[in-house]
Amino acid sequence: MCGIIGYCGHRPAVPLVVEGLRRLEYRGYDSAGVSFVQSGALHVLRAPGKLAGLEKKLEDENVFSATTGMGHTRWATHGAPVEKNAHPHRDHEGKLALIHNGIIENYQEIKAELCAEGCEFRSDTDSEVLVNLIAKGMKLHGGDVMQALSWALGRVEGAYAIVLMSMDHPGTLWATRVASPLVMGIGTGENFFGSDIPAFLPYTRDVVFLEDGELVRITSGSWEVFNTATLAPIAKEVQHINWDVQAAEKGGHKHFMIKEIFEQPKVIRDCLLGRIDGGGVRLAELDGVPVPERLHIVACGTSYHAGLWGMYLIEKLAGIPVQVEIASEFRYRDPILPKGGLVLAISQSGETMDTLAGIKLAKQRGLPVLGLCNVVGSSVSRESDHVLYTQAGPEISVASTKAMCSQLTALLLLALYWGGKKGTLPAADCARMVTDLAAMPDVLDDALPGLRREAQKLARHYAGATSFLYLGRGMNFPLALEGALKLKEISYIHAEGYASGEMKHGPIALIDPDFPTFAIALDDELFPKVKSNLVEVQARAGEIIGLTNEGLDLAVEHRWNVPRAAGPLSAFVTLPALQLFAYEMADYLGKDVDQPRNLAKSVTVE
Ligand code: AGP
Repeated sequence: MCGIIGYCGHRPAVPLVVEGLRRLEYRGYDSAGVSFVQSGALHVLRAPGKLAGLEKKLEDENVFSATTGMGHTRWATHGAPVEKNAHPHRDHEGKLALIHNGIIENYQEIKAELCAEGCEFRSDTDSEVLVNLIAKGMKLHGGDVMQALSWALGRVEGAYAIVLMSMDHPGTLWATRVASPLVMGIGTGENFFGSDIPAFLPYTRDVVFLEDGELVRITSGSWEVFNTATLAPIAKEVQHINWDVQAAEKGGHKHFMIKEIFEQPKVIRDCLLGRIDGGGVRLAELDGVPVPERLHIVACGTSYHAGLWGMYLIEKLAGIPVQVEIASEFRYRDPILPKGGLVLAISQSGETMDTLAGIKLAKQRGLPVLGLCNVVGSSVSRESDHVLYTQAGPEISVASTKAMCSQLTALLLLALYWGGKKGTLPAADCARMVTDLAAMPDVLDDALPGLRREAQKLARHYAGATSFLYLGRGMNFPLALEGALKLKEISYIHAEGYASGEMKHGPIALIDPDFPTFAIALDDELFPKVKSNLVEVQARAGEIIGLTNEGLDLAVEHRWNVPRAAGPLSAFVTLPALQLFAYEMADYLGKDVDQPRNLAKSVTVE
């Protein structure tokens, strides 16, 4: 997610803003910029890449008399990470500057309206559209900034946290939010905005957490909160924060991994933004892309497990034959890639060498490539013919969690989209799945704390285990593989994921009281089969953690009931349960959860 800081006070604003952006670097970004009003002029300076580029630009500027300023580090969602797309963005008359974190879903239609009225755009971003819409609001409301903001944001759909600066009001900043984080820091003779508390923590620990639909105006000596729609004043409580900087970067969580596990509801919401409407699926990124006759999914690690899960769904809902390949094998095999096929390269980082090699092989064979990745401007996004971004925001912890959640969301959207195009999926079935998917974030928000408590209890009970067997059938088989990978990579306990029907073909020889099994046994058509596999485990005195649903007839040593979800949607509950078990185990064993030994966040070598 982007980093935001705004300042109204008595200190030189620009150095303070740049320092605040540096404290937000952990969030990941690909360009940065600042704006300030000085000598009656509105200054905006931006640079691609890291903060050093921006600081170099600032060296030649006299920036020390401005005491109001704002800054932004951009995590690209619309438009490549180049200077013209960096924030702040000015309106076309150059009197307003805006910084924005989020996604404006209906920016295209607003942009067309503004273009028709003579507005000229310099970037590819939705943020520049928003600042020009606010400028139009200023004209419609006699230059009143609050009225203009209220009017403009009433027309906008999507997620946003914004800070606005006006050349005509040098000592004031305005901010508002919907679905993207924004907090206010209250100082003495100075006030702050931040996308996260670390931005201003060295200056004040008194914060006001802003809610969706709240509009804020600050000066060096005042702060006021209003209802964005009605402009009615809102009373807010100032809270004192005792976190240290480290804890603040993790939103008060102990590790980035647990923070990112709890971000999964937001990740589903963000991945769906602009892609579902009226019960249908709309993937503008695939406009003009023929429905493939055959799909070759190429990926590594967790992304490979996501692809395996997607295979079941795409074959079932869209009737498209799918082959899922470990990229490091695919690149050295001599795969048969018939015409009419499509390669789907899945990669969170977009920089995994083996996956990139798979893309290269596909293109050598003349097959089109669709990249499913999380980083705008990454190698996978540039090498692919088409790109679908997962919109998960930067994933800091090496162990991938929320990225997989976003990949499953995107794969489900692809299955529904292609199913609709091919006519293999009745519209009513699609609409029901879309409705259930859109409700999943709230289900998860409610379920996650309880899942964590149960994971904590089980992790302590099994902390002495030296090896685990993970079992799942059907779409739960890829999840069993993922659960085993998570446990291995952060707790260093050996674990093996297996198709539960395959256990009798060898692994059952391992079962004994010291070799516990983690079984995914949910309320689906394969439950009876899984249950009989577990009887085989128990007949050999193997202990079982059964991840299951209330009311199912399953007698195991540790029954872990999780909320029911329809069909493939159960994965959005199962996945965090598996992640939390691994996390709590690793944390209890005192491992380096966010930076496990021997691992890199992106494997850019063979
Ligand atoms: C997963 O927790 C690991 N970090 C690793 O398996 C990762 O999924 C794999 O290296 C692929 O990375 P990518 O999605 O960035 O291509």
